[in-house]
Amino acid sequence: MQRTMVLITVSAIVLLGGCTNSMRPSMQSAADKRVEELLVRMTLEEKVGEMTQLTLEVVSRRKDDRHVEMNIEKLREAIVTYHVGSILNCGGSANTIDNWHEIITTIQNVATKETRLGIPVMYGIDSIHGANYIVDATLFPQNFAMAATGNVDLVRQASEITAMETRSAGIPWNFNPVLGLARNPLWPRFYETFGEDPYLTSTMATAYVEAQQGNDISDPTKVAACMKHYLGYSAPRTGKDRTPAHIPDRILREYFLKPFAAATEAGVATCMVNSSEINGLAVHASKYYLIDILRGELGFEGFVVSDWNDINNLWQREKVAATQREAVKMAVLAGIDMSMVPYDYSFTNHLIDLVKAGEVPMSRIDEAVRRILKVKFALGLFDNPYPRADAKASLATAEATSLNLQAALECITLLKNDANLLPLSSDKKVLVTGPTADLLSVMNGGWTITWQGDREDLYPAEKLTVLEAIRAKAGADNVRYVPGASFEQPSDLNAVLEAARQSDVAVVCLGEKPYCETPGNIDDLNLPDAQKQLVQTLVWANIPMVVVLLEGRPRLLGTIADQANAIVMGYLPGQEGGAAMADVLFGDVSPSGKLPFTYPKYTGDLTLYDRKNSENYQPQWPFGHGLSYTTFRYENLTLSESQIGMEDALTISVDVTNSGTRSGQEIVQLYLQDMVRSVTPPVRQLKRFTKVYLNPGEKQIVTFTLDVADLTFIGADSRPAVEPGLFKVYIGSQEAEFELK
Ligand code: GLC
Repeated sequence: MQRTMVLITVSAIVLLGGCTNSMRPSMQSAADKRVEELLVRMTLEEKVGEMTQLTLEVVSRRKDDRHVEMNIEKLREAIVTYHVGSILNCGGSANTIDNWHEIITTIQNVATKETRLGIPVMYGIDSIHGANYIVDATLFPQNFAMAATGNVDLVRQASEITAMETRSAGIPWNFNPVLGLARNPLWPRFYETFGEDPYLTSTMATAYVEAQQGNDISDPTKVAACMKHYLGYSAPRTGKDRTPAHIPDRILREYFLKPFAAATEAGVATCMVNSSEINGLAVHASKYYLIDILRGELGFEGFVVSDWNDINNLWQREKVAATQREAVKMAVLAGIDMSMVPYDYSFTNHLIDLVKAGEVPMSRIDEAVRRILKVKFALGLFDNPYPRADAKASLATAEATSLNLQAALECITLLKNDANLLPLSSDKKVLVTGPTADLLSVMNGGWTITWQGDREDLYPAEKLTVLEAIRAKAGADNVRYVPGASFEQPSDLNAVLEAARQSDVAVVCLGEKPYCETPGNIDDLNLPDAQKQLVQTLVWANIPMVVVLLEGRPRLLGTIADQANAIVMGYLPGQEGGAAMADVLFGDVSPSGKLPFTYPKYTGDLTLYDRKNSENYQPQWPFGHGLSYTTFRYENLTLSESQIGMEDALTISVDVTNSGTRSGQEIVQLYLQDMVRSVTPPVRQLKRFTKVYLNPGEKQIVTFTLDVADLTFIGADSRPAVEPGLFKVYIGSQEAEFELK
């Protein structure tokens, strides 16, 4: 018993990310003394100001679609009078980098030259798929598409570029990554996640955070990252954004907590809170989640920022506070260090009053301000809070654009390819049709130039839509275009029929218009009927059909899944998505993406891949599915041992051969099954993956190592556990058993 207990303690630390300070970038050691010296000099008003975050709109006005003009009087009121320590957002749409330099310089001039202590402002922004609020920045595939690449290095490199371009504007704080698990396909923020699996998400979380922050967040190409939205935000019971999640504690730890543990382990500097509730507990007011788990179990040492207006929402929406003042009190006492207020000084005024009334101890204020100042010092803001003029050159470099194209190419997932309709030969007469064929916004989604991403007029004209890219590839004379349908309404179906009769193949671009957060709520996961009618029309035209899906979540295809000869998932592939899609459709590149989520078939069956033995799994396409233009053969799955002890590691190898006629990449996935367990075991869980590139006939021996941490689960007592017994390993078509003694 003793041995097992020791093991559990070890795995608890490893599993839940509790770790010593030495495992994080030295955010504390460099500036502790300076923080304390500053803290003792600060008045209550200055301290509470540090905990206050305002949106840019409060201190500026929109000059035009690409520029903001600061309102110096409002800015002085915020910073000099109220000592506001943080400002966020873009003021409505992306600004040019020159304008960002003006904005940040004006703010820091007031903060450092017109206040008593000269504490710099910490500016925060959502760079969700690149620095999306900087005009002309590199806009990558959204995170669920980055997960589909199965290429951790690509995620790392894209994150590095995002950090560099964000900081190039003088902005040192990025409200990303979203670490929720996409376990309800209705949820409108599905595309911001890395998919449904905790291991895949944790792996991408670590890569993303480490790339954002590097070893020193004062580096002019790095930013403070922000793990969000802690905790359980991504699993609203109804699929509607910002609505209750019912997540039992054991499930919370088995699935939802793991990516946050991984990000904490990676040294993430900040954390943003779930707007809603778990099991009736509003997370913004929960000591259990914000102190007991986040601080006590994960060992998170950075600071916690509320989400948008969510302290007020404790009073106005969640109804756990009878007054606004009560909401401020409960949120600050629960562990919120900074309030994204974002429009006024209500938080500031209430909190000053609460401290003076003795209802919030100064020790709690000092704790919050200390955490905030530590990050500001670690960012180097006290040494230089200003944008660097030379940083402008780091925006949208050719290398970044090239990497972006690679990311778009590697995320595209071939779901179906009957009779090898794809790739198309460039002499084909192609009909392009459908609502997502000739738009850039449908390939980027929300958080693109504007919050909703729907200002097509502001997208860069030089980037190619799918239609434009196909024309460039096949020759304009070989391509006919008939819109065929809007997102909800059929149109011009006779013209579609006529064009189909003069074409060899139809590329039907379906999916969703851009959306972000609650505006993206839907009541029906099915694709709208108009899109199904368009496909049916092409069936009548008896023309071979390739369906391209550009969507932020897996919309149900119904009859389309059988009617289309080939189906390609483009996700939200970013600004190079059009070019990438054409490269894949015409075979310049063999698709290599794999679904990071289950693609459901029925509205009444949203079972996920890590289902239990009692559940039937009948998706349209399973988690991890993705075809290629070549084929891969798996052989000789070999385990180093048939039995291992608690302290042992297990080496697993498999031969992967490109058995086809084209070069291609393959994401080799290792799944594990615990055959018998005291808590019902999932049928399988992803435990490792790697991506290989193989030429025709080439073989690579892929090796993985598992240890007892990989066999650990959350037991009935909500604590990490591992139990002797039989386990099965699955890789491709191969499987093998081993026993844990
Ligand atoms: C939004 C989002 C959050 C974002 C914040 C600032 O409401 O929930 O993800 O970082 O507000 O824009």
